[in-house]
Amino acid sequence: MLTQEELKQKVARAALDYVLPLLAPDVVIGIGTGSTANLFIDGLAAHKHLFKGAVSSSERSSARLTALGIHVFDLNQIDRVPVYIDGADEIDAGLNMIKGGGGALTREKIVASVADRFVCIVDESKLVPCLGKFPLPIEVIPMAIAEVSRRVARFGGTAALRQGFTTDNGCQILDVSGLRIESPAELEAQINNIAGVVTCGLFAIAGADVALLSTQQGVQTLYS
Ligand code: A5P
Repeated sequence: MLTQEELKQKVARAALDYVLPLLAPDVVIGIGTGSTANLFIDGLAAHKHLFKGAVSSSERSSARLTALGIHVFDLNQIDRVPVYIDGADEIDAGLNMIKGGGGALTREKIVASVADRFVCIVDESKLVPCLGKFPLPIEVIPMAIAEVSRRVARFGGTAALRQGFTTDNGCQILDVSGLRIESPAELEAQINNIAGVVTCGLFAIAGADVALLSTQQGVQTLYS
């Protein structure tokens, strides 16, 4: 029986195998945030001579990449990336996701938006029939915390301010529990439309293109 950590290591290795054929001297790749993305970064470092560098979804991933000798570009220097590799907190069979457990959801959504392919790397504990058990993170402009909390209550959720946490963008996170998300793209649009919301952690309007799912039987590839 593989542990969750071992499952993460296997999917990070599978992501590396997925990315290696795409690497070339002029290629910049997109890299996400979290413990699974960290394992991918660590494996990628051995191949840093094969590609130009990375754009990253957080200051902590950028620091890890830089420490390992992978050049990190400002996204404004880059047009497109061929692939974005990142984890998720929940994913469904349609490859809709909840992300932002690490608080990097907005930059994750931005980097994913310039990627030709979003490859989500998860262990099997993240695959759910319906999104919403994991509290949905929402990045909020600080002055709007109370009003956004009231608004999300209309969707049936209970918002809790993530204490002692400030995002890389200087904002705060509301974690919304109690949602059963039957129509993820619709809810994503509705929440993102609330004044003061920077973005919510639903990735459904643009979900993943591919998921590498680490199971006890091996790494499976799922397509949207
Ligand atoms: C970061 O903000 C998140 O979106 C992560 O991608 C997500 O929390 C997955 O993290 P782990 O790989 O640590 O489970």
